[in-house]
This record gives sequence, C-alpha cells and structure tokens, in this order.
Amino acid sequence: QNGGDRQVRVWCDGCYDMVHFGHANSLRQAKALGDYLIVGVHTDEEITKHKGPPVFTEEERYKMVRGIKWVDEVVEGVPYVTTLQTLDKYDCDFCVHGDDITMTADGVDTYHLVKSADRYKEVQRTAGVSTTDLVGRMLLLTRNHFRQGCSQFLPTTQKIIQFSNGQAPNPGDKIVYVAGAFDLFHVGHLDFLEKAQEQGDYLIVGLHTDPVVNRYKGKNYPIMNLHERVLSVLACKYVSEVVIGAPYKVTKDLMEHFKVAIVVHGQTKVMEDEDGEDPFKYPKEIEKFATLDSGNTMTTEKIVERIIRNRLEF
Ligand code: CTP
Ligand code: C5P
Repeated sequence: QNGGDRQVRVWCDGCYDMVHFGHANSLRQAKALGDYLIVGVHTDEEITKHKGPPVFTEEERYKMVRGIKWVDEVVEGVPYVTTLQTLDKYDCDFCVHGDDITMTADGVDTYHLVKSADRYKEVQRTAGVSTTDLVGRMLLLTRNHFRQGCSQFLPTTQKIIQFSNGQAPNPGDKIVYVAGAFDLFHVGHLDFLEKAQEQGDYLIVGLHTDPVVNRYKGKNYPIMNLHERVLSVLACKYVSEVVIGAPYKVTKDLMEHFKVAIVVHGQTKVMEDEDGEDPFKYPKEIEKFATLDSGNTMTTEKIVERIIRNRLEF
C-alpha cells in the first residue's frame, strides 16, 4: 500500500511448465514493482497451439504457480496474447515479462498490445536455467553433467538473500524439520511441504548435498545442483528456512541446534545411510517423527520418465 493510496497491481502470464527458480525469480522481481501480483497461466490447449504440448498438466502448473511465495493470485486459462481487456478485468496497472521475446504460432509478439499501450515492464531473465536446459540435463543419462558442471547458473549470496524470508522463528514457535533432495521441485514436494507446514509454526527444509543425493539416488541425480535446489525450495510459500547441505542422518545435535519439535517425511522410501542405519533413527527413538501422506505420487524420476517418453517433442 502506498501511504493509503490504491495498491499497484501487477500482471504476469506464461506457460510455467516445469516451474524452476528462473520463473520464481521473474515473479519476485515483478512483485517488487508493485504491491499485489496476479499471474495468468495458459491452458494445455493454448500452449499446444502455440508452442507444442507442455510436460505438466494445467492443474499441476496452476498449483505450482500458487505455491510461489510472491504470487498473490492465479488466473487460470488466460489467452496467449496479453490484452488490455485482461489487465483491466483484473485491475492491473501493467504487465511484467522477462527480457526475451515470446511469439504466437503466427510469429506475433505476445506482448505487442500491452507494449504499445505503455503498460509493459521488463525484468531480467535468470541466466543459466530454462526448461530446455533442464530437459537437456534429464536426457543426459550419465553422471557426466554434474562431474562436468553442466549447470550454467551462477549462484550468489545476493540471490539467496533475495529469495530468503530472513525471519528467525518466534519464541515458542513449533519447529518442523524435513530433509530430502527436493530435486526438480515439483507438485509432490509442494503438497508434502503444505502438509509438513501444518504440523507446526516454522518449517525448516534440510537439503542434502549433491554427492549425498548421488549416493542414494544414483545415475545422473541430482539434476539440479544444491544451489539451484536451495532457490527452488526457498521460493515455496510454506518454507521458512533452508539448511544448505544438511547431514543425511537427522542427529541429536541437529535437532537441538534448530530446536526441532518434530521431523516429518512423506511416504516415499527412505534409503539407508552409508553405515546401513535409518537416517531418522534418532527422532524415531525420541518419538519426534511422523510420516505424512502428501496425497501426491509425483516423483523426480517420474518427471524424467515423462520427458524421455516425450523426447521427440522437444
Ligand atoms: N523466465 C525468466 N528466467 C528464465 C526463464 C523464464 O525470467 N530463466 C520468465 C520469462 O521471461 C517469463 C516467465 O518467466 O516472464 C514465465 O514465462 P514462461 O512462458 O513459462 O517461460 P519460458 O520463457 O517459456 O521459460 P523456459 O525458457 O524455462 O521454458
Ligand atoms: O525425494 P525427495 O527427497 O525429494 O523428497 C522430499 C520429501 O518429500 C520426502 O519426505 C518425500 O517423502 C516427500 N514427498 C512426498 N510426496 C511426493 C514426493 C515427495 O511426500 N510425491
């Protein structure tokens, strides 16, 4: 709110297929240009018409955008070309997009109408991450990509600060801890984190290092390196804090350090530690462990399978 004045309402729209931290970063910048951010997401039909079928369904894509912490509202099924009528309908002052040109199937700039009405602003696209790049990494079924440093994204502390809430827990807050890979952050993770957050007041997500994830997932996992996974998880509205490179075992030290009241895990299989132990042995012994049902069966592996099945389309 600008000193009692009307709020500045910002509009963004897009496909938001395979939502990554580049999308989140554009929404973060868009939100910073105003007070209230509305994001329009295209239907599967509309995307198929203009650039080919999306990997994720519209329901999955709507949910993912709703999960991003800078988004105030999602409008489902908006047209590919942004019109002034749409901006007016949602009472938005202007539209924001990254500094790349998007075209319709007929080669028309999708933002030509809002550009000529001077209701268009540009933010900087995040270099080093795109759906095309992620698909490329998934199709490389060897470990080479992370041995050779396939990610082109350059992480900085600045970016982490921009993504983080910067909020310590309040005294008396019930702290919930979860740990995992959270690779290619997806709807399954989102549903899980929503349930996890409901268990307390402050949700801490521990992210395993790349070598640890590679040990228990094998092959070319993780697809996203630790820095990228940190940003994807920080962009989620249910997450309060992230541990960058959490130990695989949830130890007494860790639980005391973060004053963890409860450790939760979804219904996915828990891989044992190098010494054969259950990583949740300690919280289970002190009865501070719970299993949650995210109600969602999506996994990183399933995404990779979808991509491989559709590889001819990319
Ligand atoms: N975006 C960005 N940085 C990226 C990728 C996307 O800032 N690395 C922005 C786009 O500029 C756009 C918004 O995210 O404003 C969502 O657009 P969408 O149509 O989903 O993005 P694409 O450009 O198709 O994303 P990608 O290349 O990853 O498929
Ligand atoms: O597999 P990964 O380590 O990324 O999972 C992180 C957490 O999310 C785990 O607790 C896992 O059980 C949970 N999850 C879930 N439902 C899914 C996918 C993951 O509850 N569909």
